[in-house]
Amino acid sequence: MKLHKTRLRAGIAVLAGLVLAGLLLLVGLLLWRASQSAQAVREPALLTRTESYVVPHIDHSSDTALITRGAYLARAGDCIACHTASGGTPFAGGLRMHTPFGVIVSSNITPDKTYGIGAWSDAEFLRAVKHGVAPHGKWLYPAMPYNLYARVTDSDVLAIRAYLNTVPPVHAANASNQLTFPFNIRPLMLGWNLLFFNPAPFQPDPQHSVEWNRGAYLVDGLGHCSACHSGKNLLGGDTDYLQGYDLEGWHAPEITGNPYTGLGSWSTQDIVDYLQTGTNRYSGASGSMGEVVSDSTQYLDAADLKAIAVYLQSIPGSGKTAPAPIPAEDPELTLGHQIFLANCAACHQSDGTGVEHMIPAFAGNPGIRAEGANNVIRTILLGGRTAATQLNPTSAEMPAFDWKLSDAQVAAVSNVIRNSWGNAAQRVTAQQVATLRAELKAQPQISADR
Ligand code: HEC
Ligand code: HEC
Ligand code: HEC
Repeated sequence: MKLHKTRLRAGIAVLAGLVLAGLLLLVGLLLWRASQSAQAVREPALLTRTESYVVPHIDHSSDTALITRGAYLARAGDCIACHTASGGTPFAGGLRMHTPFGVIVSSNITPDKTYGIGAWSDAEFLRAVKHGVAPHGKWLYPAMPYNLYARVTDSDVLAIRAYLNTVPPVHAANASNQLTFPFNIRPLMLGWNLLFFNPAPFQPDPQHSVEWNRGAYLVDGLGHCSACHSGKNLLGGDTDYLQGYDLEGWHAPEITGNPYTGLGSWSTQDIVDYLQTGTNRYSGASGSMGEVVSDSTQYLDAADLKAIAVYLQSIPGSGKTAPAPIPAEDPELTLGHQIFLANCAACHQSDGTGVEHMIPAFAGNPGIRAEGANNVIRTILLGGRTAATQLNPTSAEMPAFDWKLSDAQVAAVSNVIRNSWGNAAQRVTAQQVATLRAELKAQPQISADR
């Protein structure tokens, strides 16, 4: 299982936050510890709490049903993506997440009794997944999204455990993290949790339909969509809910109902298609979203995907509106248009409409006009590939243009596709392209006169 760099974002932001959180910790630790132990005492109650929100459509009658349901939910939570090293056994951990402060290694969550979760009680499993504390008081780093899994019901987490119990145990120790001091001090996470961790369970909103609530439950819990799509403050806490975020050379676009930068202009079915097949009539999922689609959302049933779409479209979002477009007679756009016709129109069509379910359109594609232009620039430099899924096994590929186009040419053609066919967006500069070219270690242009 390949881990994309962007998954490391959580770890990086969180570790940066540790320094400040640590200071806070010095002041508040003793006082807070008292209230924590009170919480630990309350913990077993989680097991007996009547679930306020029960998954509607799954049979609980036998173990097989429980395991099937657990397998489904493990996919919804995409546990496999982080808990599998590249080329490694599923769920055996060992994926190395590089951060400026060292390496965080994901854990073995197979049912091995020594090195995995085999000997854990259900209460210990719940506490690790939903509260970020593994047995023996091991405070987890939020590179494991327990702050979002806290919304998942106990019965769903225990179904995932029932499924994990059926995968082959791997008798191999977790490699230890290699973090520099003071980031290697796990109890510092007390400080982070105090600032950002809200252990409240999911609360259904009676003002909304069962479908909407199911969507909210999946997006905010197992789906951990906000890990990439929400802004982050300096300490790695979430801000600007699902309104878009730049991560490691990508932009995870706004996915609220905002009609311009969000999903408001797509139909509910367009969103379902995107999450289920990896493409729709406007766009295709690549990069870290391609991995989310191929590891996780393609396996969700149509009712759950529709619930997610209905919920996302109901969020008002950022309120961002279109800026004034760069006028077509702008000299940069004139140049960019020639580059577009010579290099891009054969696939994307001269009117920017692409080929449905294969080659993305630029018209009607909110990701193209997003404030963050990273996806546009990086796809032109490096090319890309959309997710391969059961329903769309031959994913489409775009060639790289780093060797062919200069920074100024990439900027010019980006400005064309972001400011034509009804699009309008901030100007991309050659400097922005140069910075991303260096960051992505893309090739320099080979010859200026091609
Ligand atoms: C975005 C990446 C990511 C995803 C998704 C993820 N995990 Fe984790 N998980 C981690 C990392 C990294 C650690 C180790 C953290 C540490 O060392 O503090 C971890 C630790 C754990 C632990 C503690 C293991 C131990 O021995 O301490 C459990 C249990 C766990 N994850 C279960 C799950 C389950 C179940 C899912 C799916 C519902 C899941 N994880 C999804 C990254 C992830
Ligand atoms: C690991 C980071 C990550 C996670 C987790 C993630 N996304 Fe994404 N998402 C992205 C990136 C990056 C893109 C842009 C991909 C592209 O342009 O090909 C994207 C694009 C999208 C788009 C297309 C938006 C557009 O305007 O083109 C939708 C819809 C979407 N994500 C929904 C979701 C949902 C729903 C979830 C949770 C179930 C989710 N994402 C979880 C990173 C992520
Ligand atoms: C051989 C066909 C082909 C050519 C030529 C081509 N593209 Fe693409 N393009 C694709 C395919 C297929 C994808 C989907 C893959 C992906 O998003 O990673 C794509 C994706 C993109 C995306 C991302 C769309 C999204 O929804 O996130 C951008 C931006 C883009 N192309 C711009 C260009 C520009 C600019 C040129 C000319 C310099 C160009 N393409 C030339 C086939 C092509």
